[in-house]
Amino acid sequence: MRLKNKVAIITGAANGIGLAAVLRFAEEGAKVVLADFDTNSGVQQENELVGKGFDVKFVQVDVAKRESVDALVQQTMDHFGTIDILINNAGITRDAMLTKMTAEDFSHVLDVNLTGVFNCTQAVLPHLVEKGYGKIINTSSVSGIYGNVGQTNYAASKAAVVGMTKTWAKELGRKGINVNAVAPGFTSTSMVAKMPEKVIDQMKSVIALQRLGDPTDIANAYLFLASDESSYVNGHVLHVDGGIMM
Ligand code: CAA
Ligand code: NAI
Repeated sequence: MRLKNKVAIITGAANGIGLAAVLRFAEEGAKVVLADFDTNSGVQQENELVGKGFDVKFVQVDVAKRESVDALVQQTMDHFGTIDILINNAGITRDAMLTKMTAEDFSHVLDVNLTGVFNCTQAVLPHLVEKGYGKIINTSSVSGIYGNVGQTNYAASKAAVVGMTKTWAKELGRKGINVNAVAPGFTSTSMVAKMPEKVIDQMKSVIALQRLGDPTDIANAYLFLASDESSYVNGHVLHVDGGIMM
């Protein structure tokens, strides 16, 4: 029980990596808010997990909208009474070559992947500061570290998340709050399923482990950074990518 009685908000929790994290956190004793845009999947996952005896609650949110995020934090406080952990996992892609990328798709990805992380962290922060304790984990990407063809918007957002992570680690360390990031490599979720088959094969061939990540591989990294096993880890970007580039 590495997270016994800790309260965690996980964004983008209705599918993929976020959903795997909800399960791992609940298995380790956490009370979890599944925060997601996708109500259908969120409600279904909440029902299944509650049926298995886990203490989880779905809250619909659009992380890009500050009022929606404020309501998420209020509902979490009303339901669980405290917040210990924030996993800023929600993210989207709108891939296109630079020559074809629309201004709308550029902005939309930044709104969700970057402003969304800012919104959630700023809204949760007063509750962590009041306790003098907290764990904030942001989700970057191999694309934000090394760049990736077709991902001007996404790579910009994920590189910016690294800058925010390090800045917040410096600002918030003195308040008892650890801020770290995970930079996943190509992981089997709907995000990767949208890629052309040829590009997925090309990617697999340059991963040292020669396979895509499993959502639980990333969830386990979130778990380590959310637990007190990582008390002295701060401002770190943990690459969980099978050794794609070193
Ligand atoms: N890496 C290397 N080469 C790539 C590439 C990539 N990621 N994506 C495309 N290419 C290559 C294509 O193989 C193609 O090469 P050829 O001309 O030799 O055939 C060339 O670039 C042009 O590609 P398309 O013909 O597909 O051009 P398009 O305009 O129709 O589509 C695209 C462009 C939308 C970027 C499409 O190629 C695509 O979706 N590529 C995948 C982009 C990608 O890797 N996205 C990651 C999604 S998963 C994720 O984002 C999670 C994460 O954090 C890693
Ligand atoms: P996914 O598409 O399976 O899940 C993303 C979830 O975010 C979905 O449930 C979706 O409804 C939710 N979401 C989207 N926009 C939202 C919004 N505005 N507000 C609230 N929720 C929203 O994607 P996946 O793969 O699980 O991605 C999770 C995170 O991991 C993302 O930040 C992604 O960028 C990152 N990542 C994923 C990689 C991969 O290969 N799958 C690699 C590197 C990083």
